Amino acid sequence: MAQEDVFKKIVAHAKEYGFVFPSSEIYDGLSAVYDYGQNGVELKNNIKRYWWEAMTLLHENIVGIDSAIFMHPTIWKASGHVDAFNDPLIDNRDSKKRYRADVLIEEQIAKIDEKIEKEVAKAAKRFGEAFDREQFLSTNARVAELKAHRDALHERFSQAMNDNDLEGLRQIIIDEEIVDPISGTRNWTEVRQFNLMFRTEMGSTADGAMTVYLRPETAQGIFVNYLNVQKTGRMRIPFGIAQIGKAFRNEIVARQFIFRMREFEQMEMQFFVRPGEEMRWFAYWKEWRLRWHKALGLGDEKYRYHDHEKLAHYANAATDIEFQMPFGFKEVEGIHSRTDFDLSQHEKFSGKKIQYFDPELNSSYTPYVIETSIGVDRMFLSVLCSSYEEEQLENGETRTVLHLPAALAPVKCAVLPLVRKDGLPEKARAIVNDLKFDFATHYEEKDAIGKRYRRQDAIGTPYCITVDHQTLEDDTVTLRERDSMQQTRVPVADLHRLIHDRVSLNSLLRKLN
Ligand code: GAP
Repeated sequence: MAQEDVFKKIVAHAKEYGFVFPSSEIYDGLSAVYDYGQNGVELKNNIKRYWWEAMTLLHENIVGIDSAIFMHPTIWKASGHVDAFNDPLIDNRDSKKRYRADVLIEEQIAKIDEKIEKEVAKAAKRFGEAFDREQFLSTNARVAELKAHRDALHERFSQAMNDNDLEGLRQIIIDEEIVDPISGTRNWTEVRQFNLMFRTEMGSTADGAMTVYLRPETAQGIFVNYLNVQKTGRMRIPFGIAQIGKAFRNEIVARQFIFRMREFEQMEMQFFVRPGEEMRWFAYWKEWRLRWHKALGLGDEKYRYHDHEKLAHYANAATDIEFQMPFGFKEVEGIHSRTDFDLSQHEKFSGKKIQYFDPELNSSYTPYVIETSIGVDRMFLSVLCSSYEEEQLENGETRTVLHLPAALAPVKCAVLPLVRKDGLPEKARAIVNDLKFDFATHYEEKDAIGKRYRRQDAIGTPYCITVDHQTLEDDTVTLRERDSMQQTRVPVADLHRLIHDRVSLNSLLRKLN
């Protein structure tokens, strides 16, 4: 099945099984805004808990905060977001549709890459086992032509983006003869900068309302609380502050389900270090964050780093952790060495001294910062996409199963009485009443047992416990494991231990130590 079709199925599955709904659906939805359903919210909370505990429990020197979404508007001036948090936009006069100029050009580059790959695939088929990809890429004339075009285009594009050259971007669109996918025409307007922050008013207009912004990142809430936390927590450098919270961006090109949203959630951690030691800590966090991802067991080959060649003016190193989504490798997390830019800017704009007195060095300085920043929703999407399987069974049937990491699964076990009589429901309820204090436990008695197993497979429940007539005689049940579908007869008294070993967050966190 084409990856595009797989992705459509995952989106449909997410809705059908209560993971993600389009926002305001009965009013025809609101573009790029989504709601999490009864299973989605549990999965999301488990992801957040995994991150939070990995940061704050496993690192003695990291503490958490929860800062407000509304902040003083000058913060966004100081951070550079008012002046520079922009996307270059272009309109097509015929379709009246608006596009990101940089995305149109990136898509054009991707098309050339696809053409190169097609040539490679054709040649591989022709030459069979004898095919040498590297040799073909360096010698084939058609590929050489495409590659020269691609590299020149990429160079021109990078230059225009770096120089903030809007006319240059437009000229690339014209020269490349890029057409609007809707109208099919090249009737483009000028390129304009569009700020991504949502604005609103605070206070009544009569009092002179103040324009405030919905925060586009949670990080600034950490920077402006640096002094509060350092002093009240008597923190000594190096130390970190972690935060999970909503962020808002007026994304123009919002696509691919929950990958790019207008309202989303971030998990960010700012790690404050001595100037000059930032590269060591950058390397530490780069490695540690990838380890956090891989511990979930979604497949090591699905991750890669993408080191930034072009850095923001305040950064001296940056890398993305990319995950293989059905629509290609995409950024899930960013790790940035942000120097002392943010704290220095807030010192300048607020007029307050933001420094650290280092008792070991007997001197004061503005700390440098390593940031780890991951989107909860993108993490959710990566877990969902890599867990989804339409499995062909030996009996010819297909079962749809979510192989979610057990610690993240919304429901850990379902207790199912084989029939709705003979005292089996009562026994099943007694088991639920015992397990529910430690695990998210479902009770289900409707429909045939096979159908109930399938429903639990579809939401990724690691264990089903079946209560039958034998249970009443010897206090044993059938424990069915989701991935292998293996059923084992176990004493009720062992259930807690058996389930706990596999589903607890604790075991996942231990892998990181
Ligand atoms: N404080 C740094 C910062 O915000 P970013 O690369 O703009 O950096 C960090 O965002 C992470 O937030 C991204 O790696 C991504 O996972 C998530 N993210 C950013 N924009 C998003 C959007 N529109 N929808 C969903 N997630 C988004």
